[in-house]
Amino acid sequence: MVTSISDTTMALVLILSILLVFCSGPAIAELTRIDQPTKSDGSLSLLVVGDWGRRGNYNQSLVATQMGRIGEELDIDFVISTGDNFYENGLTGVNDTAFEESFSNIYTAKSLHKPWYTVLGNHDYRGDVLAQLSDAVRRIDPRFTCMRSFIVNAEIADFFFVDTTPFVNKYWTDPEDHHYDWREVSPRETYIENLSKDLDSALKESVATWKIVVGHHTMRSVSEHGDTKELLKSLLPILKAHEVDFYVNGHDHCLQHISSIDSPIQYFTSGGGSKAWRGAFRPNSDMLQFFYDGQGFMSLRLSPLEANFVFYDAFGRVLYEWGLAKVVTRKLFHPAAM
Ligand SMILES: *[C@@H]1O[C@H](CO)[C@@H](O)[C@H](O)[C@H]1NC(C)=O
Ligand SMILES: *[C@@H]1O[C@H](CO)[C@@H](O)[C@H](O)[C@H]1NC(C)=O
Ligand SMILES: *[C@@H]1O[C@H](CO)[C@@H](O)[C@H](O)[C@H]1NC(C)=O
Repeated sequence: MVTSISDTTMALVLILSILLVFCSGPAIAELTRIDQPTKSDGSLSLLVVGDWGRRGNYNQSLVATQMGRIGEELDIDFVISTGDNFYENGLTGVNDTAFEESFSNIYTAKSLHKPWYTVLGNHDYRGDVLAQLSDAVRRIDPRFTCMRSFIVNAEIADFFFVDTTPFVNKYWTDPEDHHYDWREVSPRETYIENLSKDLDSALKESVATWKIVVGHHTMRSVSEHGDTKELLKSLLPILKAHEVDFYVNGHDHCLQHISSIDSPIQYFTSGGGSKAWRGAFRPNSDMLQFFYDGQGFMSLRLSPLEANFVFYDAFGRVLYEWGLAKVVTRKLFHPAAM
């Protein structure tokens, strides 16, 4: 009798430990979350800029001044940086003066003294990535909130920031003369698998009215770099499965809006923070709504019922406006509630 009880106990302990091992594995790896309050009426407004850090050159300062003005007009809650924060090769370390010369001393307007939720671009990966992610630079300028992949929960909207550089084959297989800082990323397959799984489960859990994914690289683009086929293959299906509303990126140095023809996803490129004017134009099979091959930035205003996007040039002139009304909320018609 005693033996059989202890056998049962042993079996239970064994089963429990197996369960524990499984539960503490990649399945419960979670992306860092940041809570971002909305305005008192439940709305949000923000600016998006990408591909900027050039010590003020290539009209970076001009764009920054206009961001300050529009930021004040819209009483923005935060700024999104779509990456390529420091040219040409990221930061050399936590003491690289480019951090102040390209960021702190450029985006000086009071309205821009808000959190800057920031992803890394491929040029950032050519420097010391850990420096951009460090507390050391945040002590210099606490606005700079750069992580590889993370989530900003802003009540009506969830923003999913995704580290897209490791997805792109050529940076691994054909880096040309560049060194990429893959510390904490390699082995690539595990990293991408983890990230995709984490993104998938975070999107599945999200009950926000608006789901917005932000990454450096394009999904769809008619400019210089064009589509990023690795993202179309491995990330886009996850976005489609969870009814993501908007994918926001940089990488191509332009402003563009493309509507997916086979899903509700809208693609917005805001990569005009400094050097632009590349002249390339290659139409693709999705629906191009707007394209400007020059410098500028984007604003986004969100309420529980409406999203409004505006593109501005380096003089702060409105180039394009686009809005979307949400008639029924996803929450009411979520299959799980039926
Ligand atoms: C700065 O912006 C002006 C006006 O858009 C443009 O003509 C000029 O080429 C830009 N300069 C640089 C260096 O990009
Ligand atoms: C950065 O500068 C600080 C202060 O001068 C110094 O203590 C630190 O060692 C430097 N860090 C690196 C990585 O050079
Ligand atoms: C993948 O996730 C597991 C579990 O959270 C973690 O231990 C591991 O370091 C992750 N691997 C990469 C490459 O991020």
